[in-house]
Amino acid sequence: MKRSTKSTVIVATVALAAFVTSFSATIASSPAVLSAKGLAEAGASAEAGQGPPQGPPPAGTPPKPLVPVAASSVANNPDPYVNEYVTMTGAVEANLSRTSFSVDQDKTKPTGKDVLVIAPTLQKPTDVNAYVTVIGQLIKFDEKEVAAKLKDYQIDLSAADVAKFKGKPVVLATAVINTAGIDIAKKPIPPMTADDLALQKIMTKLPPAQGAVRKTLDSKDVPGAKEQATIVKDAFTQIETFFKAKNNAEATKWATEGRNHAEAILVNLGLNNVEAAKTSITPLGATCASCHGKYRERMDDGTFRLKIGG
Ligand code: HEC
Repeated sequence: MKRSTKSTVIVATVALAAFVTSFSATIASSPAVLSAKGLAEAGASAEAGQGPPQGPPPAGTPPKPLVPVAASSVANNPDPYVNEYVTMTGAVEANLSRTSFSVDQDKTKPTGKDVLVIAPTLQKPTDVNAYVTVIGQLIKFDEKEVAAKLKDYQIDLSAADVAKFKGKPVVLATAVINTAGIDIAKKPIPPMTADDLALQKIMTKLPPAQGAVRKTLDSKDVPGAKEQATIVKDAFTQIETFFKAKNNAEATKWATEGRNHAEAILVNLGLNNVEAAKTSITPLGATCASCHGKYRERMDDGTFRLKIGG
């Protein structure tokens, strides 16, 4: 009896550990995924009209406090730092590929205890022997785990380095700060294209009109609600036209759905049925969130771009 109780406890502990691991893997996925999730959530609440719109955290914001550490401490005893988000300082030992390098504790001589850094957005090689501070999640190097955490990234290390670093600590860096204080892993922010500007012009009309539809329905102001719902409907028609011209069937479908919900509001207002009109508000907001989750990208400066290819 005693034995079976014990094994139950072990099973429960393993299950909990598995849960914690999968949970942290979920929240610690690549910055792009993080920001997309944040956007979808922030968008969903703002667009459904629950409270003031809350901006998502900047892309790459770690979900846990950062742990400062020297590369030498990681090399000597990595275990306490595994899965933590670290700011790790060390001297560059070698640039190993376009997106990876190793750091060491000593500027003057190799110690044989270097720590791998993978920085998918690295913009230029690091200066060998100079100090860098890297920010990112520390894991033990394993090709499958790197692929799971960095969805759009291809490991570009040599086969020899892959073998050499297997099971050793690696920092999946979102920032690489050099001695000049410059983050050489910061992606440049592309200028807005004509498409971005065209969409921005349509989109910025939507939140105020959507808010006004809600308010006028609440106060049973039927003419006011008709006016605002027409603005929403016209904006959705423009979005539909935009994505149809891009041959993007999925985004066009969401725009059509949004237009249909706006039209349903107008039909019900025509029947003086304010309560029925209100039922379209939430599904209308859901079309914004669906499209933004896939086709809108937030830049580090808080501006948005059309995300091509979803
Ligand atoms: C079919 C796709 C789609 C739908 C539906 C959609 N949006 Fe957008 N939205 C986008 C895209 C793409 C962008 C990024 C535009 C750009 O490139 O600047 C955007 C940007 C925005 C912005 C940021 C504008 C700026 O630059 O400041 C707001 C606000 C916005 N949308 C609100 C809404 C609201 C509210 C709804 C629903 C009532 C909605 N959108 C429905 C695709 C969509």
